Amino acid sequence: MAQRVRKAVLPVAGLGTRFLPATKAMPKEMLTVVDRPLIQYAVEECLAAGIEEFVFVTGRNKGAIEDHFDSAYELEATLEQRRKTVELKQTQNATLKAGNAIFTRQQKPLGLGHAVWCARHWIGREPFAVLLPDELMVSSPTCTAQLVTAHEMTGGNVVAVMDVPREQTGSYGIVATRNEKNGLAEMTGIVEKPKPEEAPSTLAWIGRSVLLPEVFDHLEKHETGAGGEIQLTDAMAKMIGHSPFHAMRYNGQRYDCGTRIGFLEANIAVALHRRDTAVETRVLLNRLLKG
Ligand code: G1P
Repeated sequence: MAQRVRKAVLPVAGLGTRFLPATKAMPKEMLTVVDRPLIQYAVEECLAAGIEEFVFVTGRNKGAIEDHFDSAYELEATLEQRRKTVELKQTQNATLKAGNAIFTRQQKPLGLGHAVWCARHWIGREPFAVLLPDELMVSSPTCTAQLVTAHEMTGGNVVAVMDVPREQTGSYGIVATRNEKNGLAEMTGIVEKPKPEEAPSTLAWIGRSVLLPEVFDHLEKHETGAGGEIQLTDAMAKMIGHSPFHAMRYNGQRYDCGTRIGFLEANIAVALHRRDTAVETRVLLNRLLKG
């Protein structure tokens, strides 16, 4: 039987240069989609999948993330005094349970594989989820919950994938698969950012996985790949054939908040999706489009 997935690694060390000057003094993961920071969506996605322990791999100037998930005593006391119960609940919902979050620093920007490797002692020898918070997923069950289910079925590594236009393969880890059944296929390869003419398919890894701890044994070697960085996808490729490895077609919406337009799209889409903002957003958009 597959071991339960209890922990998630959230690599959040990136500089966010695409969002300068917004990210000059603030982590890009704290950029807001409607009313909560991007990082909170990733955490909520995990909580909905039964994952409650988090390893944040941070860098310099990322302190706001740690503060965000702490309890805010003075703020909460003030809200309570003013009987602002909804706001109090929203604030408390963003607090992680005591002892359930670890913040460790990736001291040098050596790549995503290196960032995940930095979490090794806190994960230990058990399966874990990896989420890149730049990617915002909206679905029920959540993307991570879908992966956890696939992991329970296969007992191995699972990555979430989606079809992308062939001209975009150079932006993603692209997988090769066989024997697809109900959206789940055996993975036979994964290549980091191949040119369109060299890509084995158009199925892109969308920054969500459940991985077995053996991935650390490969990351440990610190071998560099595409862009001279230690790539997580290269370590994944090395696991194929040694432990079960599947690619799962994600069923839901994905917004690439690593780009300005994707981030804008996420804000509009989430506002249109949420019951408390849908009607007003629709009216607003119609008015703006007419003008
Ligand atoms: C990273 C990964 C890539 C993956 C992508 C998903 O790339 O290296 O394999 O497909 O995230 O967002 P990045 O976007 O950090 O360049």
